Amino acid sequence: MIRDKGCGEIKETDIGTNMSLSGWIFRRRDHGGLIFIDLRDRSGLCQVVFSPDVAKEAHEMAHDLRAEYVISVSGEIRKRPEGTENPNLPTGMVEMYAKKLEVLNEASPLPYSMEEAADAGEALRLKHRYLDLRRPEMQKNLIMRHRISKVIRDYLDEKGFLEIETPMLTKSTPEGARDYLVPSRMNPGHFYALPQSPQLFKQILMVSGLEKYFQIVKCFRDEDLRADRQPEFTQVDLEMSFVDREDILNLIEGMMKTLFKKVLDVDIETPFQRLSFHESMERFGNDKPDLRFGLELKDMADLALKGSFKVFLDTLQDRGMVKAINGKGLAGLSRKEIDMLTAEAQSFGAKGLAWIKVKDGFESPIAKFFPEDVLKEMAERLQAEDGDLMMFVADKPKVTYDVLSRMRLALGERLNLIKPEYKFAWILGFPLLEWDEEESRFQAMHHPFTSPMDEDIEKMLVGDINDKDMLSSLRAKAYDIVLNGYEIGGGSIRIHRQDVQKRMFEVLNISDEEARMKFGFLLDALQYGAPPHGGIALGLDRLVMIMVGSTSIRDVIAFPKTQKAVCMMSGAPSGVEQKQLKELFIKLDIVKD
Ligand code: AMO
Ligand code: AMP
Repeated sequence: MIRDKGCGEIKETDIGTNMSLSGWIFRRRDHGGLIFIDLRDRSGLCQVVFSPDVAKEAHEMAHDLRAEYVISVSGEIRKRPEGTENPNLPTGMVEMYAKKLEVLNEASPLPYSMEEAADAGEALRLKHRYLDLRRPEMQKNLIMRHRISKVIRDYLDEKGFLEIETPMLTKSTPEGARDYLVPSRMNPGHFYALPQSPQLFKQILMVSGLEKYFQIVKCFRDEDLRADRQPEFTQVDLEMSFVDREDILNLIEGMMKTLFKKVLDVDIETPFQRLSFHESMERFGNDKPDLRFGLELKDMADLALKGSFKVFLDTLQDRGMVKAINGKGLAGLSRKEIDMLTAEAQSFGAKGLAWIKVKDGFESPIAKFFPEDVLKEMAERLQAEDGDLMMFVADKPKVTYDVLSRMRLALGERLNLIKPEYKFAWILGFPLLEWDEEESRFQAMHHPFTSPMDEDIEKMLVGDINDKDMLSSLRAKAYDIVLNGYEIGGGSIRIHRQDVQKRMFEVLNISDEEARMKFGFLLDALQYGAPPHGGIALGLDRLVMIMVGSTSIRDVIAFPKTQKAVCMMSGAPSGVEQKQLKELFIKLDIVKD
């Protein structure tokens, strides 16, 4: 028997018993006569004491133990002497007095000490991920991830969903990022695409009459990476037939309620708050608002027009906006500190940051451009009181929203306004189409199978497809779920009518030929009796990240990649042998290691 119990499972009721424990040496302290070891396995830590009076041979051997050696010890569990208990450790009331020691394996000197691993730098941690994953924090994350997946699977199983796998070697999917391509040896010059999502296949499963599909599935997108974006990530993907939007929203609200209760013992309030895309942009500057604090954006265009500040007037003239937020309690900032805020706004893309201190009146280089009563109205609108700092950005809508939403988040953090809670919301009423300046045509905001809202279907079918305003006004039957400022999922009710689908391609200026080439198999399937259907995909990594309280999805993925899409541990991606390329009929333009 290599072990009787986990190191972290020893309790006071074990006092007096003899048993074996196995694990890794986390720490070793040599106190002359006595040698102490913190022995660690997945269940936790336990202190093992080697005393020459108890076991001479084991004590002798213990001198040679080093960090991360794998050992097995047997001995007696004893109560720790008065004053040496460790209340911070679940096993802190007891310790094992070793009688026998066996070294199961030695470990080379470590690249960094396990005790300081958290500060070791992420590159080093990722390179030695096997060591990094030994840390209790990391194991806690992976255990939580397992629990979350399990609860979700059970919930969906109970609701009658079937977990069905879809191919990884497939055709390009319409999620809008760049594909990862895989060359086919059997079909020279042909490539598979790794799925950006199972979108087309899950719709086909609905045509096939499976009715309720789900899959916890890897998706691949070659896009710029960030703390909440990986090139391969996991979706909880689902699709249902004979449903409308409310059915999907209810299902997911129920899932979140069950999940947070079972995993975190937190009660989530349902139904979730709903915001239209438009309202979310106006109030928070983005479509994934963090609703845990205020500092909302306010429109200042009407008041700006009552003054003579040229920057504001010119911007408005030029179809731009003037919006502001309230820097709560920041009127005390020095000129230098305000310059730093301005620099921050500029780093987010602003041309500048106009500001007005509310401080026994109004203090600002731009105050002179506004009558006193207008300044008062500004303060009122922002609910700015004595001691606050009003901050303005004037720019094109996209920049104004982006800068102020980022300033808002930065301030929320700096001013400690973000409460430790879970704030869910649905973002609804997205535009169906998005104008692409570069290509000078409309793109689907989600994907071309997203249904317009019922009231907009007729408008699209009979309207003029060159009427830009009409097309811009169409709303999608799509929904995003947002949690604490992250988009944790998105989906839509799909188009199941052939006439609507055909029109959608016309609007997107996708020719029959192009549509056939890209999505032919789905279009084929849709003509044989597609039921009304819709679905959603949750970003599992992001959800787990928030639930474990981290800000990087790399913390909840066992083997993540860096910003450059590199696996530091395995060295992927790497060069391949000429022979392999030859078999694939591939010639490289650049030869890179
Ligand atoms: P969407 O593209 O919105 O929808 O993706 C769903 C969710 O997946 C997560 N996500 C990511 N997580 C980590 N890294 C990434 N690179 C990444 N990209 C997306 C987000 C996102 O909300 N087929 C549709 C769903 C549907 O319509 O049913 C889809 O894939 O949390
Ligand atoms: P200026 O007239 O360029 O000296 O700018 C006066 C103030 O307006 C400074 O505080 C600038 O940071 C700010 N400012 C300049 N451009 C903008 C803008 N587009 N939006 C908001 N403030 C701006």
